[in-house]
Amino acid sequence: MENNVKKIINARLRGRDQLFSLQIKDGFFSQINSQSEHLDADAHCYDASGNLCCAPFVEPHIHLDAALTAGEPNWNMSGTLFEGIERWAERKPLLTAEDVKSRALKTIELLVANGVQYIRTHVDVTDPQLIALKAMVEIKEQIKDQVHLQIVAFPQEGIWSYPNGRELMEQAISLGADVIGGIPHFEFTREYGVESMRWVIELAKKTGKLVDVHCDEIDDDAARFLEVLATAALEADMGAKVTASHTTAMHSYNNAYCAKLFRLLKMSKINFVSCPTESIHLQGRFDTYPKRRGITRVKELREAGLTVCFGQDSIQDPWYTLGNGKLLRVLDSGIHSCHMMGYSELKNCLDLITDNGAKTLQVEQEYGIELGKPANFIILEGANDVEVLQKQGEVLLSVRNGKVLLARKPCEVITCTQFNIKG
Ligand code: FE2
Repeated sequence: MENNVKKIINARLRGRDQLFSLQIKDGFFSQINSQSEHLDADAHCYDASGNLCCAPFVEPHIHLDAALTAGEPNWNMSGTLFEGIERWAERKPLLTAEDVKSRALKTIELLVANGVQYIRTHVDVTDPQLIALKAMVEIKEQIKDQVHLQIVAFPQEGIWSYPNGRELMEQAISLGADVIGGIPHFEFTREYGVESMRWVIELAKKTGKLVDVHCDEIDDDAARFLEVLATAALEADMGAKVTASHTTAMHSYNNAYCAKLFRLLKMSKINFVSCPTESIHLQGRFDTYPKRRGITRVKELREAGLTVCFGQDSIQDPWYTLGNGKLLRVLDSGIHSCHMMGYSELKNCLDLITDNGAKTLQVEQEYGIELGKPANFIILEGANDVEVLQKQGEVLLSVRNGKVLLARKPCEVITCTQFNIKG
């Protein structure tokens, strides 16, 4: 197949029933027309064969610096978050720039092979040498034509609770981090957590950067830094630029507190990232029975009109041994765990790994299948959101600025027993 795609025919678009053809000129969508009938393909066009043409997947929360380190030097035998931290503490001193770059690039290849073109990675900056951060800044430049990569300065061991934490965060910003992170529930005291949240928003205001905080990633119903983050974002009038990741403690909050909290969240307009496969694996570990799912209130946040998207968090690292870059797997697991399989929810479920991620990353201006926008899209097996999820098929085509990143033939069954049903 040619490297440049000029025309797609027989494609479905989300929320529409008819077939469409799309033309691309100089890397932008130049025509999008509905078809009255199925068209025959020629050598110069890609035949989508009735499959869905969709905006690319967005991975809004991944740790590329830790990816592909599971079992190095030791496996996490209990599967818990705390053993994950122990195993990471053994691996972290072995980090080199080459090691980080090679694993991050392999992980990005996995993501691209599964339809992702937008990635937000959290990079641990509680390291006086900032080895991983510097490596990731180089990678961002190296892959900029293929993938939009945002780097979060992520203080894994705290900002207030780590030596020179604030200086390291500021240094990371000056070296090229795009987003300011935080981890208030992990700081030594509640006061440190509160101060760190106000400081993060102040720094974002001063530098014009986005914010994405690991917020209340714990089963403790007393972890209430989300209200602090949302208030600071509201008062600084920068809610759309602020994201709260995980917020798993919200699973355990009482409903009366949540009713009050949701008023603030709606006023603040901050975004939410949930990592359902990671949360259901790591949370609820201190419970006997019943065991909490430990996933934030995705359904209720969406019903309140807030932006929520799904991410993977880990791919084969000390915290999570599985993972393969397939956001469709995370989506499937997430909607099961969050009771979001009513038909009206299923009909738009791809929002959770496409449009909502794009809003969170603040890339909406260039994102979406619209005339005049960059020709960034994927072709998925299935005619609509529900069929794509039912099939759990592969991404057949991924195109960025009109150029092919990935083309794949649909899986072909060689032999299968036929069952003839006779009436
Ligand atoms: Fe994370």
